[in-house]
Amino acid sequence: MRLSIGIISLFWATTVLASSNSRFFKRVNNTGYELKKGPLDTPWTEEVGTDPWPEYPRPQRQRSDWKNLNGVWQYRNASDGEIASPPFGQDLGQSVLVPFCLESALSGIMAKWAIWSWYRTTFEVPSDWNSDNRVLLTFGAVDYEATIFVNQKNVTFHRGGYFEFTVDVTDYLSVNGTNELVVHVYDPTDKDLIQIPIGKQTLEPSHIFYTPCSGIWQTVWLESAPISHVTQLDISADMEGNVNVTVHASGNQTSGPVDITIYEPGSDEIISVFSGESNSPFQFKVDSPKLWSPDSPTLYNLTVELDGGKDVIHSYTGFRTISRGEVDGVQRPLLNGEFVFQFGTLDQGYWPDGLHTPPNKEAMVYDIQTLKKIGYNMLRKHIKIENSLFYRACDELGLLLIQDMPSLRPSVPASTAPCSENLRTKNEEVQKEFERQLDLFIEQHKSYPSIITWVIYNEGWGQEKKRELPELRLTDHIRSLDPTRLINAASGWDDHGAGDFHDNHHYANPQCGTPFYSTPSTPYDPKRIGIQGEFGGIGHNLTAENLWKVEKAINEINGTYEIDATLEHWNYRAHILLSELRDQIEKFACSAAIWTQTTDVEGEVNGMLSYDRRILRPDLDQWKADIQALYDAASARGGRNYTMVQVQTGF
Ligand SMILES: *[C@@H]1O[C@H](CO)[C@@H](O)[C@H](O)[C@H]1NC(C)=O
Ligand SMILES: *[C@@H]1O[C@H](CO)[C@@H](O)[C@H](O)[C@H]1NC(C)=O
Ligand SMILES: *[C@@H]1O[C@H](CO)[C@@H](O)[C@H](O)[C@H]1NC(C)=O
Ligand SMILES: *[C@@H]1O[C@H](CO)[C@@H](O)[C@H](O)[C@H]1NC(C)=O
Ligand SMILES: *[C@@H]1O[C@H](CO)[C@@H](O)[C@H](O)[C@H]1NC(C)=O
Ligand SMILES: *[C@@H]1O[C@H](CO)[C@@H](O)[C@H](O)[C@H]1NC(C)=O
Ligand SMILES: *[C@@H]1O[C@H](CO)[C@@H](O)[C@H](O)[C@H]1NC(C)=O
Ligand SMILES: *[C@@H]1O[C@H](CO)[C@@H](O)[C@H](O)[C@H]1NC(C)=O
Ligand SMILES: *[C@@H]1O[C@H](CO)[C@@H](O)[C@H](O)[C@H]1NC(C)=O
Ligand SMILES: *[C@@H]1O[C@H](CO)[C@@H](O)[C@H](O)[C@H]1NC(C)=O
Repeated sequence: MRLSIGIISLFWATTVLASSNSRFFKRVNNTGYELKKGPLDTPWTEEVGTDPWPEYPRPQRQRSDWKNLNGVWQYRNASDGEIASPPFGQDLGQSVLVPFCLESALSGIMAKWAIWSWYRTTFEVPSDWNSDNRVLLTFGAVDYEATIFVNQKNVTFHRGGYFEFTVDVTDYLSVNGTNELVVHVYDPTDKDLIQIPIGKQTLEPSHIFYTPCSGIWQTVWLESAPISHVTQLDISADMEGNVNVTVHASGNQTSGPVDITIYEPGSDEIISVFSGESNSPFQFKVDSPKLWSPDSPTLYNLTVELDGGKDVIHSYTGFRTISRGEVDGVQRPLLNGEFVFQFGTLDQGYWPDGLHTPPNKEAMVYDIQTLKKIGYNMLRKHIKIENSLFYRACDELGLLLIQDMPSLRPSVPASTAPCSENLRTKNEEVQKEFERQLDLFIEQHKSYPSIITWVIYNEGWGQEKKRELPELRLTDHIRSLDPTRLINAASGWDDHGAGDFHDNHHYANPQCGTPFYSTPSTPYDPKRIGIQGEFGGIGHNLTAENLWKVEKAINEINGTYEIDATLEHWNYRAHILLSELRDQIEKFACSAAIWTQTTDVEGEVNGMLSYDRRILRPDLDQWKADIQALYDAASARGGRNYTMVQVQTGF
């Protein structure tokens, strides 16, 4: 029953083959790819090669017959309107390494203003796949709009830069041999005041806003599945052992039989097989499960068999309960019924070589392990969504996640300031699309045990305030989609009482669950959980060697809240700020805090790690002691004593 994932290496030749339409086209020439020299690299940049991200990309719904399409594709810059005449059968002239953002050095393009783009490649369906099955083509994420053509047929369109989409391409495949795959991408980012969910991306990077990411930035792959197959698996498991599952299946039948086998952690031993029907929720119970927590991140493997094993997928879950309750008169977030103080970093997920895409999995996991090593038990994934393997790594290594929805552009250029309010509040289409993508955001990520909180808005960015207060309604809506987590409706600034948290942002010192506050934040509301969604942010400059070597970014380093001359000074300041936070945990109602930030990013020099991950700023002994003191202060207020655990190796 164990899944063995075979990585099918891509094999390219230069032969000329016929397509189904008996048009002739050349296979893609992948010899033209060259890693570009970007403003800064990482220790992993040179290791990427031309077979990037070879891992099976979707750990929550693994199938054994799959083929990775990452690698060298063709690329051409396009213009508005070109979508009407796709370059079928043409050599696009440039080579791009998929899945790296067109703006990144690793893509081999380092594009500026990649608004309209063409991608082209060819693929073969492995001949040993069951010919009665369907062939599914999946894109992990394409920023922002993608139109997919297979053998000259428009097979699907997708909008939204952070989401996975799948299309059944079986009916468009050539009878024998090579298939042509052409992708048209439109990514306006913040061009012409267009408002779409983009997080920190901007076409004109400046200080806290960064280089955009356009095009294919997550793994592209094929897999083989029967006509009636699992299209989505919603699973949640609580501290009592109750499991709630919905197996979504394709096909005409409204439901079909489903069998779920759960295994003992770390072994092949079957705990039990539970049965239900597809396309509607069903529940079962596992007796006395080992619970998931950041200091003991136990996961249970499971397999889902649809229609008596016609479709088999491998997945996993973790048993844990997230709730809210009063502990000694204070509203607290509870993990498995206990208050555990959450201490995390603001985590942007940017890389100097790959931008939105980490160079490889090892690099991605290095960030998580570094945070655990310092003593953090949480991170706030800031207005960005990562690939599925990131969430899997947090599930497996034990890190709590506060996950932000990528925000709309926060403001417009100063020259148009008078209409900024109008642009922000009057465009109902913008709001509607934001809400459509908010649903995708929840639906595609609600089965990861590590995610404990959803954040709707950050610091008022894209947050409508005049016509209505959408977060009141959106909080109820998210609660109906996912009753198993807490909701932070407004992280910083414009709080109107929605959600489970009152979240203050303040630099450099914290104001966590205190009566003190600074505009535009509001006073602490004792009816909800008090947290510090952002603080710290103190900087320490580096020599050019470890900086993002872009003149504008370097000139804007002085925009950092505070720059300490030496690392010794920086660590001393951190000690003062963490001591102040501890004081607030002891005296007030502080339940979680987020230090800005995991790494430096472009012109920001305030990370635990430098942007290239080569410099670690914290004095580890001092930070570990200061952070343990936070957990201890919380446990003295009725919390569970969270103990830092040794970082797991061999992941
Ligand atoms: C492939 O592309 C490279 C660089 O663009 C070029 O030098 C080479 O001749 C091409 N090879 C083939 C077989 O077309
Ligand atoms: C694409 O072409 C447009 C129009 O010529 C240009 O403004 C833009 O910079 C080009 N982008 C890239 C990535 O080459
Ligand atoms: C491609 O098909 C989608 C429907 O799947 C449609 O919305 C879109 O307009 C089509 N695009 C083109 C260029 O035909
Ligand atoms: C071509 O396809 C047909 C039907 O799909 C199959 O019967 C035949 O064996 C294939 N030939 C080759 C050379 O793959
Ligand atoms: C199971 O999950 C669904 C949503 O996926 C939810 O509507 C339902 O209330 C849950 N049932 C239980 C018993 O928790
Ligand atoms: C659904 O029914 C139609 C018409 O009978 C059939 O062509 C199609 O293959 C069926 N689809 C699935 C997924 O069973
Ligand atoms: C789950 O299965 C995978 C193989 O699919 C294995 O590598 C992993 O160790 C298993 N995890 C647990 C917790 O048993
Ligand atoms: C930071 O360091 C860089 C490179 O050494 C230097 O060019 C820049 O002026 C410094 N900025 C500040 C604000 O210290
Ligand atoms: C940073 O330095 C630049 C000159 O390099 C200056 O124009 C700008 O006002 C300074 N910004 C701050 C926040 O001090
Ligand atoms: C919490 O656990 C740590 C490590 O075991 C210990 O040093 C500390 O004294 C404990 N604190 C409390 C308040 O129990």
